[in-house]
Amino acid sequence: MTTASSPSFAAEQRDALLVAAREAAGRAYAPYSKFHVGAALLMADGSVVTGANVENASYGLSLCAETVAVSAILSSGEFLRNGGKLEAVAVTGGAPGAAGQGDIVTPCGRCRQVLNEIAQIGGTDPLVWCDGPDGVLEMRLSELLPHAFGPANLL
Ligand code: THU
Repeated sequence: MTTASSPSFAAEQRDALLVAAREAAGRAYAPYSKFHVGAALLMADGSVVTGANVENASYGLSLCAETVAVSAILSSGEFLRNGGKLEAVAVTGGAPGAAGQGDIVTPCGRCRQVLNEIAQIGGTDPLVWCDGPDGVLEMRLSELLPHAFGPANLL
């Protein structure tokens, strides 16, 4: 088993990623839940890719912000350009225009699994910053999804 790298960050880097997530939340398409979520992924070279939730009239087809961000980072080429080194994730959510003002939003179970896929591929254990009105909850992805099943299990 290979050990995942666990980088650390300055407060400014964390805050910049949270701002990117909040801006992404402003682009959510969430007319049904009216709960706007933004996610921002930070790669090793400092590049940031964001996503917002995209709902559907057939509710079950809705896409979470984190999943949209993972899709974007792969399709944009940033993941490959960075050798798969996903270093941090910021997540925020709330009513339109108020992301980060309500309860702290942590990635849902499915999104933890989706994030784990690219983290395992790149060999990182990214920090996950969950935005909230009274501060930021910081956890490693491995804490949010312990004993994860991932690509390594299929080798
Ligand atoms: N949502 C996300 O985008 N990410 C999560 O981790 C939790 C939930 C979205 C899905 C749905 O559009 C809305 O939030 C309410 O559940």
